[in-house]
Amino acid sequence: MLSRAKKFCLTALLSAMAISAQEASAQTIKADVFLYSYNDPFIKELSSYYKDPSIVADFKIGIYNSSQDMLAEQSLISRALTKKTQGIIVNPVDANNVKSLIEIAKKADCPIVFINRKPSDEDLLSYDKAFFVGSNSKLAGNLQADIMDRYFKEHTDADKNGDGVIHYALIEGEVNHQDTIQRNLGLNDALEVKAYKYEKDVSIVANWDYNQAYKQFSNYIANPAHLASLECIFSNNDAMAGGVIHALQEKGYNLGQNNEKYIPIIGVDATSNGKTLVDKGYMIASLKNDARAQVMLSLKIISLLNEGKSVDSESLGLNVSSQSLYVPYSVIE
Ligand code: BGC
Repeated sequence: MLSRAKKFCLTALLSAMAISAQEASAQTIKADVFLYSYNDPFIKELSSYYKDPSIVADFKIGIYNSSQDMLAEQSLISRALTKKTQGIIVNPVDANNVKSLIEIAKKADCPIVFINRKPSDEDLLSYDKAFFVGSNSKLAGNLQADIMDRYFKEHTDADKNGDGVIHYALIEGEVNHQDTIQRNLGLNDALEVKAYKYEKDVSIVANWDYNQAYKQFSNYIANPAHLASLECIFSNNDAMAGGVIHALQEKGYNLGQNNEKYIPIIGVDATSNGKTLVDKGYMIASLKNDARAQVMLSLKIISLLNEGKSVDSESLGLNVSSQSLYVPYSVIE
């Protein structure tokens, strides 16, 4: 977790960046952003910050959709490099297959910052101008467990049969994604030390996607015994939580604050849709995956490297280890 001093530094850095962005500098940096898919609601929101004039005033930004196609991604990046880009920011299609992207950036001596989808440390460390900016997902899992446990303490009849054992469903993102892995590790670690005992009834891998979550969860609760025994739901993101809530609502559950049929569910991201689900009382909380801070840090890294300065915990106000940075989460409820 971040120390108070580090948190303060990050906040100070982000506001200083906003101020310097407002005083548009004569020295504009040309940077290009490559997103794995515009169909992903969190990534769509993240991309909007690369268009926010208060953030990008010092940059000339190009934004490209790789449409989940690695070949398209590679050729878009090669083209940007031939057009003398000064910074590549990639949200890679496949984070386990980025060696060639790092190689072409290295050949052109161009900084490359990965955002949201993390390559291995080995790949990052193969080039001293390659960095990763993401979120502290273990913390998100810890917070999900804490919030849910507090819910059961405050609503003792939510433990339907009063046996002190809470039966839950886990809705998972892409299996190899660092956020899926870390959120679930953080969740398990924190659940293990609670007074209630938590038992997983089912894991559903829905790859971050609303429709996949809706279909698979609908099938699961089509069995009345499954629905009857389920006491809470942890979702790795808000989009999948939305799909699950849709399926629950078709069964008359989670229709609003005063609804007796209610299964507590918690998401991650706090996208605008996620916040609406919380505001309407369909979902108990979400955890803010701070896309704005991640975007600002990615740009700060590009400018530091272009100025020949070092990228470290001091220059960024956030711990940098193995060329990676993890922005903390906050609770939205
Ligand atoms: C977000 C997901 C998103 C994924 C894309 C995660 O950090 O929580 O909503 O689909 O990143 O890589």
